[in-house]
Amino acid sequence: MKNIIFLSFVLVLLHACKQSEQNKEPAVTPSTLYSEMYRPQYHFSPEEKWMNDPNGLVYHEGVYHLFYQFYPDDTVWGPMHWGHAVSEDMVHWEHKPIALYPDENGLIFSGSAVVDHNNTSGFAKNGETPLIAIFTYHLMEGEKAGRNDFQTQGIAYSLDNGETWSKYEGNPVIKNPGIRDFRDPKVFWHDESEQWIMALVAGDYAKFYASADLKQWKYLSDFGRYQGAHGGVWECPDLFSLSVEGTDEEKWVLIISINPGAPNGGSGTQYFIGEFDGKRFVSDQKKPKWLDYGTDNYAGVTYNNTPSNERIFIGWMSNWDYARDTPTEKWRSAMTLPRSLSLRKEGDEFFLLNYPLGTIDTLAKNVLTNGITVPAGGKEKLRIEGINQSEISFNTQSKDFKVTFQNEEGESLEMVMDFKNEAFLLDRMKSGKVDFQSEFGNKKHHMPIEDLGEVPYEVKIYLDWSSVEVFIDKGRYVMTQQIFPTLPYNQLIIENKDSASEISNLSINKMDSIW
Ligand code: FRU
Repeated sequence: MKNIIFLSFVLVLLHACKQSEQNKEPAVTPSTLYSEMYRPQYHFSPEEKWMNDPNGLVYHEGVYHLFYQFYPDDTVWGPMHWGHAVSEDMVHWEHKPIALYPDENGLIFSGSAVVDHNNTSGFAKNGETPLIAIFTYHLMEGEKAGRNDFQTQGIAYSLDNGETWSKYEGNPVIKNPGIRDFRDPKVFWHDESEQWIMALVAGDYAKFYASADLKQWKYLSDFGRYQGAHGGVWECPDLFSLSVEGTDEEKWVLIISINPGAPNGGSGTQYFIGEFDGKRFVSDQKKPKWLDYGTDNYAGVTYNNTPSNERIFIGWMSNWDYARDTPTEKWRSAMTLPRSLSLRKEGDEFFLLNYPLGTIDTLAKNVLTNGITVPAGGKEKLRIEGINQSEISFNTQSKDFKVTFQNEEGESLEMVMDFKNEAFLLDRMKSGKVDFQSEFGNKKHHMPIEDLGEVPYEVKIYLDWSSVEVFIDKGRYVMTQQIFPTLPYNQLIIENKDSASEISNLSINKMDSIW
């Protein structure tokens, strides 16, 4: 017994020494980090300070890189760096040191990264495979002086799979032709024309460039002056091909973020379906199509070089209307779940679907409830501790239902399928803290529902401590929103008002924390 007490004493002492060593490190102590109120438990968020757009999404040698717009000195936007994290499974993330710091050419705004397998850039000297980051420089001095040419494009390279980075001494690689908003290069290798292609935004349209070596760029074409939504500036473009579900047909997809001008206010993500021939992107689409009707999925782009060619998308889970005001203290904002993109054809029209990667469900181990049926015209009220960190799903053909999450404070988050009015509505007006900014909780958010098909469709909802992501019919209809309940939700009410169709297979699984 004495021995055990002595041993415990030594262990406590050792632990205390270790603690005091750790205490010399950053101010944030591991005991509180990632257990703060509102901290997402299975979404990526930075340890501390401000984050916005995902950048440089690239896979290389078993590692998915996530770079992101980062301001290490405050929880509001400031001089931009590229923060860095890596993952092997796209579920768990490891934080890395800052990858790119501002330099004499400016702050480091959004951009992309490629794997230069053939060393077209010549940066490799001893047979390494370079990773190249292509980003926008934003020169504050130029902006302050009232000039228009303060955004240029630069590149940096890494010869150790993203651990360390060097800027190219010939930066900037694309100078500014006098366009105020000229940014967010997305680069990819185009097999057919055997060259690098860059999509860039300029004001409220897109520009394309080509290069053999990532250093010298030739202008190719413009797209979109008179197509899609133009309520604000275009940002964060992405261009890639996808095959249409169940066919061999290939189409090209151009993703464009826009701010303001989204269907439910502020920032949003539109897309165009068309063709790209190595020079020009063309689409006969006149009206905008939206990837997500929620208010909080912005600046999303996709991975380059994924192992099975899967198109994996990550968005920033916020909105410029209130991004700086959300009620978190140590860090600001999180990313959406990584989602797989696919194309579906309905009649003559193409739609871009986005749906969480299957690997996310490896976190959904703990069954809270399962196999419940809510009959036509029925109502189910469940009390479930832990539902605020869970995945909820059911199958139905119901065209009229309401799902409500509630807590002991009487706060509630409501979702209504109202197919009679061709709409799905998400109401966060009483979901918790909403008054930190006037746009956050001032209206219901609306998603048009065109078609629900003839067979039961799936509704899948991911709730985390400060977000909700709703996927209807495998990503055909999607809404992503932030929420800030003052107490965790612990009740679920499902009212099935449809007189003909039941809601079946209601299952709720607690999600493990990734931190
Ligand atoms: C999009 C954006 C980009 C820009 C970056 C700056 O949210 O405005 O256009 O590069 O954020 O942080």
